[in-house]
Amino acid sequence: MNKVLITGGTGYVGSHTAVEFIEAGFEVVIIDNLSNSKIEVLDRIEKITGVKPEFHEFDLSDNQKTADFFQKNKNFDVIIHFAAYKAVGESVQKPLMYYRNNLNSLMNILQGMKDYQIENLIFSSSCTVYGQPEKLPVTEKSPIIKANSPYGNTKQIAEEIIFDTINSTKNLKSIALRYFNPIGAHKSALIGELPLGVPNNLIPYVTQTVAGIREQLSVFGDDYNTPDGTAIRDYIHVVDLAKAHLVASERLISNKNKTNFETFNIGTGNGNSVMEIINTFEEVTGKKINYKISPRREGDIEQVWADTTYANKELGWKTELSLADALLSSWNWQKKLMS
Ligand code: UD1
Repeated sequence: MNKVLITGGTGYVGSHTAVEFIEAGFEVVIIDNLSNSKIEVLDRIEKITGVKPEFHEFDLSDNQKTADFFQKNKNFDVIIHFAAYKAVGESVQKPLMYYRNNLNSLMNILQGMKDYQIENLIFSSSCTVYGQPEKLPVTEKSPIIKANSPYGNTKQIAEEIIFDTINSTKNLKSIALRYFNPIGAHKSALIGELPLGVPNNLIPYVTQTVAGIREQLSVFGDDYNTPDGTAIRDYIHVVDLAKAHLVASERLISNKNKTNFETFNIGTGNGNSVMEIINTFEEVTGKKINYKISPRREGDIEQVWADTTYANKELGWKTELSLADALLSSWNWQKKLMS
């Protein structure tokens, strides 16, 4: 049985990925410091899959604790590294916290991989590395431009750290998956996105507004150069995203990778505006969203969506779930949270 280490495995994308790996027959070990997730997620994973993953609670930016962990646990076929801070605005306020956490944890993992000959790493990267691309849809060959935020910069630097470490380490290989906008929840509604405090991201803000937890959704800008004036993103169902980690892991484990560091766009290939999201959500749930048009949010880009040709062809992966599926599952998850 193949064994996977999932860091940040009780988080939003991590927990959905843990479920897919267990269902594919992997033995799953999770490390998380629970800084942005709850321990109950483990019971939820068990409810869905019948298996409770082995769990270690500590901070991966702690050099000693991470070294101690790898000394006792070394035989992983693949490591998937999610554990990181991800709030763009907060990263502007607290850059050192972001660099320290996101980069030290990665370096500690790479050190463990080097020390114990663990060969395969999947890294959770972001389309934020492309900034506002000149050509859409954006391919993996688009230039990496100066990051808009310390958060975005941690993803760019992390890809470079991985690249350099691979070049100096025999047998080490990695795939960076550049996610577009993950949304939705598992069909069981037992796991989903659990933002602490006021959500930054669009979909949790939408579901909390409809649930009456927030008064009104602000649509950040209707004067962009897009058909309806609101900003465009590529919203991908978190379960489709989780499955991309599975095919990427299988590619590395079976040595099917073309180079030792590969990057893939993980999106749907479709762009949707904020207004399209609002309209589709209202259609599929039958709920009205109380919203107003507000000024643009600082640091937001106008539009981005993925060219997924390379991921589709090379990974043999494509999305299976629709935007409507994703939005309905987000609402079902919000309802479950309130019940
Ligand atoms: C950004 C980053 C992404 C990162 C994510 C982490 C880009 C292109 N993407 O996603 O890499 O992983 O943050 O949080 O930089 N919106 C509203 N009202 C709201 C909230 C959002 O109108 O209350 C709009 C935004 O202006 C944006 C869209 O909804 O146009 C999506 O926003 P959000 O969910 O925050 O994600 P991104 O900013 O695209």
